[in-house]
Amino acid sequence: MSIVYNEEKKLFHLHTSDTTYVIGVYDEGYLLGLYYGAHIEDTDFGDFMTRLPNASFSPANPVIGEHGFSPDTAPMEYGCNGAGDFRIAALSVRGKNGDNVTDVRYRGHRIYAGKREIPGLPSTYVTDDAEAETLEIDAEDPVTGVSVTLVYTVFAQYPVMTKRVIVRNPTPDTLYVERVFSACNDFPTMDYDLLTLYGRHVRERSLEKRPLSHGVQGVESKRGVSGHAQNPFAALMRRGSTEDSGDVYGFNFVYSGNFSALAECDFNGSTRFLMGINPTDFEWTLQSGEAFYAPEVVCVYTDRGLGEMSRIFHRFYNRHLIRGRFQKEKRPLLINSWEAAYFDFDTDKLLAFADVAKELGIEMLVMDDGWFGKRNDDRSSLGDWFVNEKKLPGGLKKLVDGVHERGLKFGIWYEPEMISPDSDLYRAHPDWAVHVEGREPMRGRHQYVLDVSRADVRDAVWGMMEPVLRENGIDYVKWDFNRNVSDAGSALLPPNRKKEFFHRFILGTYDLMGRLVTTFPDILFEGCSGGGGRFDPAMLCLSPQIWTSDNTDPIERLTIQFGTSLCYPASAMGAHVSACPRTGYETKGNVAMWGTFGYELDPRKLTPEDREIVRRQVADYHKYYDLIRTGDLYRLISPFEDHFRAAWQIVSADKRSALFTFVRMRSYTADQCFVRLKGLEPDRKYTCQQTGRTYSGAYLMRAGLNMTHIVTGDGESCTMYFEG
Ligand code: GLA
Repeated sequence: MSIVYNEEKKLFHLHTSDTTYVIGVYDEGYLLGLYYGAHIEDTDFGDFMTRLPNASFSPANPVIGEHGFSPDTAPMEYGCNGAGDFRIAALSVRGKNGDNVTDVRYRGHRIYAGKREIPGLPSTYVTDDAEAETLEIDAEDPVTGVSVTLVYTVFAQYPVMTKRVIVRNPTPDTLYVERVFSACNDFPTMDYDLLTLYGRHVRERSLEKRPLSHGVQGVESKRGVSGHAQNPFAALMRRGSTEDSGDVYGFNFVYSGNFSALAECDFNGSTRFLMGINPTDFEWTLQSGEAFYAPEVVCVYTDRGLGEMSRIFHRFYNRHLIRGRFQKEKRPLLINSWEAAYFDFDTDKLLAFADVAKELGIEMLVMDDGWFGKRNDDRSSLGDWFVNEKKLPGGLKKLVDGVHERGLKFGIWYEPEMISPDSDLYRAHPDWAVHVEGREPMRGRHQYVLDVSRADVRDAVWGMMEPVLRENGIDYVKWDFNRNVSDAGSALLPPNRKKEFFHRFILGTYDLMGRLVTTFPDILFEGCSGGGGRFDPAMLCLSPQIWTSDNTDPIERLTIQFGTSLCYPASAMGAHVSACPRTGYETKGNVAMWGTFGYELDPRKLTPEDREIVRRQVADYHKYYDLIRTGDLYRLISPFEDHFRAAWQIVSADKRSALFTFVRMRSYTADQCFVRLKGLEPDRKYTCQQTGRTYSGAYLMRAGLNMTHIVTGDGESCTMYFEG
C-alpha cells in the first residue's frame, strides 16, 4: 500500500494491496481519473488525458485551446455541472448569483497515514495508522468559491479503496449544494455489465445483471432508507467475467438513506459511474464557514471474478467495518419470540420458552414486538416505550431476571424511529411525526415515522430507552424500522431547508443509535427493517448483524442469502430456523447455519425427533462458528441460475477445513449431479467427517462430489465437513 505523488508528471498513484488508482492533474488544474485496476506503476498516461476533443459540440477550454481539452470527453475525476461536461454531474453548487455552473480545479493535497472518522456518519475504520493511507485533494471553483476535498483511503491488506467528499464554503456568502456524489469513476470503455440487487419485502436482494448501454442506467432509493427495493450496491463486471474470473468493480455505499448508483455511457463509448446521496429531494444550505460531509463509498476491484469480489468485501467488512465487542467475540445463539408468538405472549409463556431453549442449548431469548404500551397488534403504541404490565406483570426486571436465572441472556425489540397515531407520545406531540404542513401524512403499517431529525425528539426517545436498557440488564437489542418515509418534512425546518430533511433524518438515526451503541458497548445490536429493508454497510457499522429477511422459508432464503452474500459477510446475515412447513429441520438448519444462526419458533412444539436435530445443530453452531464467520465463501451452484439445487462452501483461511452445503430445492428424474469444490489446496488430503472418505483437494476441485444419490428429495439438503 502506498500513495505516491509524482511532482514532475503531476500524477497520484494510489496502491492498495493489489490495485492501483491513478489521478492526474492536467493543465488549468483539471483533475483526471486515469486508471483503476490491477497494480501498475507506469507514469506515462498521456494517451488517457484527452480523449476526443470535439469543439462546439463538446466545448473546449479556451485557455488550453479549442482543440486541446474538453471536460465533456476527458476522464474527469469529479465531473461537475454545466461547465462543458454534459454527463451526469457528481457536484452541482448554486452560488449567490443563482446559477449552478460548477467547475472545481486542483489547489493542493495532503497524504497521511491512517484514516479519519467522518463527523456524524458511520464509516470503515483502522485501528492502527499503518493499516491505511489517505490522500485528500483540495479543489476549488474560482467563481463561486466552493471548495471540495476528495478523500481517498487505500488499505494495506485488502484491494480496497474508500472514496468520499467534503464540500466547504470558505466564502462570506451562502452556497447551496444541489448534489454531491461520493464517488465518480470515468471508465474508458463501456464493455461492462451492471450488477445490482433488487428486491421487496420477503424477497430481498435478488441479482439483476444488465449490459451497459448508451445513456443513463442504475438504481436508486427515494424511500428515506436504503430499502428493500434496491441495495446501495453495484458492480461493474467486464463483459464475459464470471463468478471465478474477470474484472469486477464492486461499489457499496456506507449510507442508510436515499442513494443513487448510476452509470452513464456517453457518445464516446466511455462510462461514468457515480454513487452517492440521491440528488432528488436533496439540497443543502452551506453558510459561510460550513462544511458538508458526504458518506463514503467502499470500492473493491479484482480480476478474479465476482466470487473473489465478495470474499474481499467479507474479509474487509469483518475487519474494518464491523465494530465493538462483537466484532470478534462469539455472539450468543438466540431464540426470537416473533414467529413463535407474535403479539400473544406474557411472562409465563416467555419463561416457558426459556426453559425449553435452555434445555436445547440455546443461549439467549429475544422478546420481539409487543411488550410495551398497549400493543397487542400493530395498530398502536410505537413511541410509548414503557412495559405493558398486563403482559409482563412485575415489569421487565422480573422477566429478565427470570431468564437470566435460567442461564440465558435476554434481548428486546425496539422500533425507535416510529410513532403510532394511537400512542400517548403522538397525543402529546403530534408535530413529532414526520409530516408537511397541511397534509395528513400517509400511514404505513398503521404508523407514522418519528422525526428523529430533531434533537429534542431524539432526546425524548433516549430518555425512554436508556433506563430500560440500563436498569434491566438487557443483553441484545433488535432495532427495527417498518415503513418507508413519505411526507418528508420536519416541523422545525425552515422553508429553504426542507430538502435537507432526508439526510438530517438519517443523521438523526446515526446520532441516536450511535449514542446507545457507545453507552452500552456490551449490548449486541441487530439491525432490522421489515426483514432486510435497511441492510447496508452504515447499519452494519452500528449493529454487527442485521435481520436478513422476514422470509424464513429455507428454499426462499437461498436466493436472499446468495444475493446478500454479494457484499455482506455471513457474520452479518441474521438467519433463523423457523416452523415454516416446507422442509424439515435439517434443511432449515443447514441454510440458517450460513448466517448468524438462531431459532424463531415455539420450542415447546418441537417433537422429540426435532429436538434431537436442534441439539445437533446447536453443537454444529459451536463447531463451525469460527469457520463460518472468518472463512472464505465460495458460491458453487447459484439458485439464480439453477432451478433445482443450490450449493456453497466455506473454506478456512488456512485452507485446512471446509464446510460444504448442498440443497435440492426440487428434485426431478434422472438428475445426475456433480459438484466441484473450490478454494482448497490441491495437494492436501481432506477427510469428510460425514462419510469418512479421504480425497485430495485436487480431486474435490477437479473431479468433484457425486451428489446424485446423496440428496434426492424436494427440499432435502446435506452438509459435509472436510478436514485436512
Ligand atoms: C418486522 C421484523 C420482524 C418482527 C416484526 C415485529 O417485520 O422484520 O422480525 O420484528 O417487525 O413487528
